[in-house]
Amino acid sequence: MKNKRKILFVASEATPYIATGGLAEVVGSLSKALTERGDYDVRVILPLYSDMKQELRDKLTFVKDVTVPVAWRNQYCGIFRGESNGVVYYFIDNEYYFKRKGLYGHYDDGERFAFFCRGVLEALPVIDFFPDVLHCHDWQAALATIYLKTIYCQKDKYRNIKTVFTVHNIEYQGKFSLDNLQWLFGIDAYYQGLTEYNGCINLMKGAIECCDRFSTVSPTYAEEIKDPYFSHGLDAIVRRNESKLCGILNGIDTEYYDPATDKAIFALYDKNKLANKAVCKEQLQRMLNLQVRPNTPVVAMITRLVSHKGLDLVTAVINEALENDVQFVILGTGEGYYEHYFAELAARHPQRVAAVIAFNPELSRQIYSGADIFLMPSQSEPCGLAQMIASRYGTVAIVRETGGLKDSIKPYGAGGNGFTFANYNAHDMLYVLKQALDLYRDKTAWRELVRKAMSADFSWKVSANGYDAMYKALTEA
Ligand code: GLC
Repeated sequence: MKNKRKILFVASEATPYIATGGLAEVVGSLSKALTERGDYDVRVILPLYSDMKQELRDKLTFVKDVTVPVAWRNQYCGIFRGESNGVVYYFIDNEYYFKRKGLYGHYDDGERFAFFCRGVLEALPVIDFFPDVLHCHDWQAALATIYLKTIYCQKDKYRNIKTVFTVHNIEYQGKFSLDNLQWLFGIDAYYQGLTEYNGCINLMKGAIECCDRFSTVSPTYAEEIKDPYFSHGLDAIVRRNESKLCGILNGIDTEYYDPATDKAIFALYDKNKLANKAVCKEQLQRMLNLQVRPNTPVVAMITRLVSHKGLDLVTAVINEALENDVQFVILGTGEGYYEHYFAELAARHPQRVAAVIAFNPELSRQIYSGADIFLMPSQSEPCGLAQMIASRYGTVAIVRETGGLKDSIKPYGAGGNGFTFANYNAHDMLYVLKQALDLYRDKTAWRELVRKAMSADFSWKVSANGYDAMYKALTEA
């Protein structure tokens, strides 16, 4: 076969190695989907966190160690290699930076990811992989784009590397005080203008300026971030770089998320044999100590418990919603206020509300398969994967029309696969929830809708074409 295009993903997390959110799933499943096409050699490079499960860690092999400059310091950097789903992974090791509990939120995150990004560029000759495209995801990988364009592009083998920067969420930009520019990030004062924004170093801004193309994870979000309502201050930068921008809807790993084969769920089913979905529901109700009622719709949320996920809409009308014959299940962790709120709500309605304050992938699939309705009323949502996963398990999504939610879920009234509402308004949400509860009573119509939800193609096959087109345009230019 002729030469494959070489892509290196730089990211702070990827399944199956280490995951705290949607970013990990996208990096893990997109690299797999591109590899399966056959015309790409995609590899992924991650930090080697001590939080990674020991059994995965045990399978890695040591490649070599190098010394990596972090501004004026020189740090040890071990390079490890692993393989998953046919994709080669590399890991950047330094225990001082990554032997910690929790991936993010440390006082020196700027330095940790500066080391990681510098390590990535120093690793290329060691792993002997100079990619055609260095594809960096989110602010933690932004410096790899910036270092390539400001330092490494002078060097021979680095000169022709193109860069893509993907914004998974514009809210998290990697902002640091300006006096860190040289002594911590090692960026020459000459380039201050590239990374400076509103009096700070803003790494996401720097990557958007430096990269050859930048993308977001849905077409609607690509439009939204040009607007101050969604941009968290970066709209002017997005608009200025608009010609490099495209929005590509994420997919999900439809082999992993498959109710016909998923070992985590209570009984297997598919869209032509739905009877076992009722078994999943019954078992879920039992497990969560809810009343076992086959005809009471179960509304579920699986989410980080932060306000932009629409939780303030939910708390505003949940008591009104519970006046209907309905059960409510929520799984997630996050802000203390919401953790307490939902735990208390469950304590008040022990047989009708269950709140599990945890991050639990197995339980999440038991909920996706056992629930009837999946609620995702986000204020903003770059893409969102849960609404697609829920649909795949035949759980009908109710979403607010924003970002990827708008691109993946179409209103039932217009022949679509779920329910949607436009304004960020609690009673608009309650109104469509009631519409869904009404339709649920019409068993035939509901089954049709469940089948429709399960029929939508959210596989990466479609979305990987978008990346393919972008990589081609870049490397053939
Ligand atoms: C971020 C976004 C989410 C998106 C995910 C993967 O977590 O908030 O909407 O689905 O990244 O791209």
